[in-house]
Amino acid sequence: MIPADIEFVPELAAHDPEIEHINEEAFGPGRFARAAYKIREGGPHERALSFVALDKGAVIASVRMTRIAAGDGSALLLGPLAVRPSHKNVGIGRKLVAIALDAAAAADVSAVVLVGDEPYYGPLGFRRIPRGQLTMPRPVDLDRLLVVEIVPGAVEKLRGEVCHADLAKVPQQA
Ligand SMILES: CC(C)(COP(=O)(O)OP(=O)(O)OC[C@H]1O[C@@H](n2cnc3c(N)ncnc32)[C@H](O)[C@@H]1OP(=O)(O)O)[C@@H](O)C(=O)NCCC(=O)NCCS
Repeated sequence: MIPADIEFVPELAAHDPEIEHINEEAFGPGRFARAAYKIREGGPHERALSFVALDKGAVIASVRMTRIAAGDGSALLLGPLAVRPSHKNVGIGRKLVAIALDAAAAADVSAVVLVGDEPYYGPLGFRRIPRGQLTMPRPVDLDRLLVVEIVPGAVEKLRGEVCHADLAKVPQQA
């Protein structure tokens, strides 16, 4: 059970150094080589839809959301999600995902995509994206490409390579 004094709040710029530390601790230097990281390099994350968990004011977990596009579709990419080892296995990760999904739905986002473990995210509402429908800018295990559809039909529109939404807006040069 989540301790009563853990607070869940929208992310602020002031949280950045602590979030960076948590992600370094959780994923190590290999995080920079991940497909999701490559997409997130394309532009800023959506701070208003990203959340942290605080214990006595200190950030002990974080989930970030980034706007993405693929084909005719758009969505949010969830991640990284990380919880400090001292606070694992009490439900904080699950709660952050639930808060992020609720915020996405309230912000009229049509789908939330992530690269992650189905045994963890499946019970939170995520399902596999059909193999071959989406590709990532770096190799990923396609069975780990998961989605929550918020607006019916939104997943069908997500096709081809995923990129940061800001890059999809850039007009193609002739
Ligand atoms: C994965 C992570 C975010 C889970 O956060 P958490 O707050 O500890 O998780 P919760 O308390 O919400 O859930 C714990 C449950 O999930 C299970 N779980 C944790 N990681 C899992 C995984 N990768 N696959 C399946 N189940 C997992 C735990 O065994 C536990 O099961 P139980 O409830 O039956 O005991 C956290 O362990 C973490 O930061 N890991 C390192 C970074 C990472 O892998 N992030 C996810 C990237 S996709």
